[in-house]
Amino acid sequence: MKIAIDGPAGAGKSSISKLAAKELGFIYIDTGAMYRAAAVYAIKNGIEIKEENMTEEVLNKIKIDIKYNENGQQIFLCGEDVTKRIREADASLGASNIAVIPSVRLKLVDLQRELAKGNDVLMDGRDIGTYVLPDAELKIYLTASVEERAKRRLKELIEKGQDADFETVKRDIEYRDKNDSEREFAPLKKSEDAVLIDSTNMTIDEVKNRIIELARGIK
Ligand code: C5P
Repeated sequence: MKIAIDGPAGAGKSSISKLAAKELGFIYIDTGAMYRAAAVYAIKNGIEIKEENMTEEVLNKIKIDIKYNENGQQIFLCGEDVTKRIREADASLGASNIAVIPSVRLKLVDLQRELAKGNDVLMDGRDIGTYVLPDAELKIYLTASVEERAKRRLKELIEKGQDADFETVKRDIEYRDKNDSEREFAPLKKSEDAVLIDSTNMTIDEVKNRIIELARGIK
């Protein structure tokens, strides 16, 4: 069984997906982490994120691996553990910019479909229900107001000891929303057959339970 969860930045997709996948015994695939890792590759190697710079040679050098242990998922970029690095602000903005480039998307979508093959998976991202796994048995579109999403993201950054303020976080989220929904190739949008969940006034547990209920109804 495949579950696709899409939605804008900060809607709670990854926290909720992790919990729901664990409870269902599914593999969780965080596709945003892959775009973040690709952006970190460009940043580390001084490559400006532009379509013409993402040549086949560069794309072939971006090696992304995902490993799972009791602490959750670890992301490796060319053998180096970048699990924490990909959560920094420059990686978020870089991911949103690199995700606009079709050749990068095609490479990462191949990897995502490969990981999903033959497994029960819960995959989250922006284009999972519409493009990566159009045959997913359950599709969720998870959203929340931009203020609520910025508030949650700010709390997360502060807890991690990073410097952040509400207006900057909100601006970054709005920038990513616009970038993600206006790009030509596989933009962020609700798939017609997706269940809409607005988490603005819901707790993580409430959203998780709703998803489990929907999944069990299908299984
Ligand atoms: O989900 P997360 O915020 O980690 O994703 C980082 C960025 O990667 C998003 O802002 C989006 O631009 C891009 N992304 C995407 N398609 C996906 C997952 C993420 O374009 N399936």
